[in-house]
Amino acid sequence: MIKVVTVKDYDEMSAKAFEVIKEIVTAKPDCVLGLATGSTPIGLYQNMVRDHEENGTSYSNARTVNLDEYLGLPKDHPESYYSFMHRNLFSGLDIPETSISLPEDGEDKAAQCEKYDKIMDAVEVDVQLLGIGSNGHIGFNEPGTPFDSKTHVVDLNDSTRQDNARFFDSIDEVPTQAITMGIGTIMKAKKVLLVASGANKADAVAAMVNGPKSENTPASALQSHPDTILIVDEAAASKLA
Ligand code: GLP
Repeated sequence: MIKVVTVKDYDEMSAKAFEVIKEIVTAKPDCVLGLATGSTPIGLYQNMVRDHEENGTSYSNARTVNLDEYLGLPKDHPESYYSFMHRNLFSGLDIPETSISLPEDGEDKAAQCEKYDKIMDAVEVDVQLLGIGSNGHIGFNEPGTPFDSKTHVVDLNDSTRQDNARFFDSIDEVPTQAITMGIGTIMKAKKVLLVASGANKADAVAAMVNGPKSENTPASALQSHPDTILIVDEAAASKLA
């Protein structure tokens, strides 16, 4: 079931999402956090860093697993998700580097997928944070991805590359492929926290919550997750029934 919490704007969404994370980290310092990239979680990450600095909330015993990574970008490229996560979150927390996992590019893609599945099989994710693509994707699981998928390589849709082009000098520089945690793996998280903001997410949010559960809308898989909370601002909630 998807519990919908509608808030006024991006800042309120970030603050509410932070409350959810803080409660988990406080109750269980050795929690496993599933993390996401994109513009949407940045405000939440800023709240986490501020709280760590001001209140000493520690992540020294926490573990993190990220959803996805581009293929074809060096790890130290500023737009790799490895760089994004270190810049926006990890560098501001006390989490040991050895407790951080992201899917990785490599010569042998199948081996990289298998390696990440082993990592995911060994952990129980306490909360998986998600954003949503304007086409309803979660992680980089594009429309048509089977709901029982594990880590896999994806060809990114043109619309996804267009959406993400703002981070690159030109559309030609946006990678065409990525490696992503599958929907089946995301569904195993104890709790899912999806954040969405802005009018360009309104169709995807409505399809996820009110639409049929269909592989055309990857996020609609969450309709059968036992504990999903959607924190959505008014603009992104505007097409909800
Ligand atoms: C990317 C990421 C997704 C993210 C989506 C939305 O495609 N792989 O995990 O949810 O973008 O990003 P934004 O929050 O910038 O709209």
